[in-house]
Amino acid sequence: MTATDPRPHTTTRRFPTGFLWGAATAAYQIEGAAAEDGRTPSIWDTFSRTPGKVFEGHTGDVAVDHYHRFRDDVRMMADLGLSAYRFSVAWPRVQPTGRGPAVQKGLDFYRRLVDELLGAGIEPVVTLYHWDLPQELEAAGGWPERSTAERFGAYAALVGEALGDRVTRWTTLNEPWCTAFLGYGSGVHAPGRTDPVAALRAAHHLNLAHGLAAQALHSARPGRARLSISLNLHEIRPLTSSAEDREAARRIDAVGNRIFLGPLLDGAYPDDLLADTASLTDWRFVRDGDTATIRQPLDSLGINYYTPTVVSAVAEGADRPQDDGHGASDHSPWPGGEDIAFHRAPGERTAMGWAVDPNGLYDLLTRVSARYPGLPLLITENGAAFEDEIGADGTVHDPDRIAYVHGHLAATHRAIADGADVRGYFLWSLMDNFEWAYGYAKRFGAVHVDYESLARTPKSSARWYARVARSNALVDPAEG
Ligand code: FCB
Repeated sequence: MTATDPRPHTTTRRFPTGFLWGAATAAYQIEGAAAEDGRTPSIWDTFSRTPGKVFEGHTGDVAVDHYHRFRDDVRMMADLGLSAYRFSVAWPRVQPTGRGPAVQKGLDFYRRLVDELLGAGIEPVVTLYHWDLPQELEAAGGWPERSTAERFGAYAALVGEALGDRVTRWTTLNEPWCTAFLGYGSGVHAPGRTDPVAALRAAHHLNLAHGLAAQALHSARPGRARLSISLNLHEIRPLTSSAEDREAARRIDAVGNRIFLGPLLDGAYPDDLLADTASLTDWRFVRDGDTATIRQPLDSLGINYYTPTVVSAVAEGADRPQDDGHGASDHSPWPGGEDIAFHRAPGERTAMGWAVDPNGLYDLLTRVSARYPGLPLLITENGAAFEDEIGADGTVHDPDRIAYVHGHLAATHRAIADGADVRGYFLWSLMDNFEWAYGYAKRFGAVHVDYESLARTPKSSARWYARVARSNALVDPAEG
């Protein structure tokens, strides 16, 4: 409760001073203007045009037209009381072929956006890669090839030079697990390849890309860049406490989490991961010196969390349920774990079918902070899709979303009280947008977007979240 807050709070749960209250978006999901000012197609432009890949053939051509409406959108963020905004730079907008000099018009868009944010007192948190690889680099082999990591380092240098005077907080990659394993393993994301070895190679080259980008950002702005990476760490639960189910959990933890945490924070790929995948690859694509390049000092670790992952071993001959929440495919996104079964966690679900489980976030935050003491954490994504509707009075009332966010903030508060060093929370998402393979069918926004008129209407969760952000404390859901 602030000095000026007249409302009575009996048990005010405050967050640490300076806690960042943010919202997150990604370029392809909101910008539109897909062919403007020199932007060329990314793998998501190609994928969304491939029949059957995205719900009803939706594309990001227009998305929510943020490219043209960013000034109004920043005003909307200010109304929400945000102290930070996490967005991504579209690689094909600033370096259309993935090579060579930057396109100034593309960079100018981000310069103007950053100026607007700073003018509104909102700290920009810039993600360099949120899944929109220039198509030309995919044609040259994509993330399974080492050259893509090298190209990414050069791209990071261009963006660091252009924005580094105004931006200090950088996220190199968003959810490299999804890029590698949904993009090249199960194929439910762009570029839609289904090759487990390509997926493992992609994971390594994404790790390497992170390291090279971190080096480039540090040399672009010595002493100024604060670096992070956002991982969708899986909160894995064995279905039962049997040794078999716990072994299944260990294997999914290896290829879902430690494949990134190992090289990023411990300086090596875990031995058990190498053993689990030995029949697929000898990992010879990891060259001498790579793990040293990957392990760059991190100022914080970004965690994206939505729902836990429940796994079990499958008895021979039994059905293998396979619902890992990442989309249906005949191909597994889990190299070396193809025989493991995935189950839906019990309880209430969101429109994505994901179980609502704030304890999963508590467990994840406290475990990661105990394993990596001294490493500040940022929740760089958390939120939920529900079937929102505009009421007769023109408002959108979304108590389910308020309850979801309230529950996860309460879990975060509890984790902080128990010693986790969490420095901020970014709601996914600022506004409804293109939800990848689900197109515009799933609404995650605090702000509703009418996809005909592109009008923005804050939902009741937006007003509730603004009160949380302004008071730096948990606000009762009933006050939404
Ligand atoms: C994450 C993505 C983000 C959004 C949410 C719902 O995996 O990073 O772009 O789609 O899921």
